[in-house]
Amino acid sequence: MSYQITVNGESHVVAAAPETPLLYVLRNDLGLNGPKFGCGLGQCGACAASVGGTLTRTCSIALRDVGDAPIVTLEGLGTTLKLHPLQKAFIDEQAAQYGYCSNGMIMAAKALLDQNRNPSEDEIKDALANQLCRCGVHNRVVRAVRRAAMELER
Ligand code: FES
Repeated sequence: MSYQITVNGESHVVAAAPETPLLYVLRNDLGLNGPKFGCGLGQCGACAASVGGTLTRTCSIALRDVGDAPIVTLEGLGTTLKLHPLQKAFIDEQAAQYGYCSNGMIMAAKALLDQNRNPSEDEIKDALANQLCRCGVHNRVVRAVRRAAMELER
């Protein structure tokens, strides 16, 4: 079957089985490597993107269920020439070790800052608590989100 989806402001027609996880379409059909395949079971958050404005684990939503909800991936937040404040803050704070989780961390932080422009440290930790990560930089991640929040406040 073919489906029309909107990703990062661009419309795409993709041919895939209805039950295909959105993550596979993003990575394999559209070449977007921001969302990562971690567990494939909706548990780690590495595959997160915004679907219809909601933070979504794209390994766990079937293509047929996306409908006309606009999708925003990590690539849609900023460009290499004009980074989103969260992307810049993660670089400035060196808030990654191997970085496989960074997509989910940044997308979850984006969802938080969309709702709460001035989150406390505890609110940041709560918002990111379900993003599983083995990096040893959790404090840097929190600092990066705070830094981005301050930048967005300006
Ligand atoms: S890969 Fe989707 S939640 Fe782990």
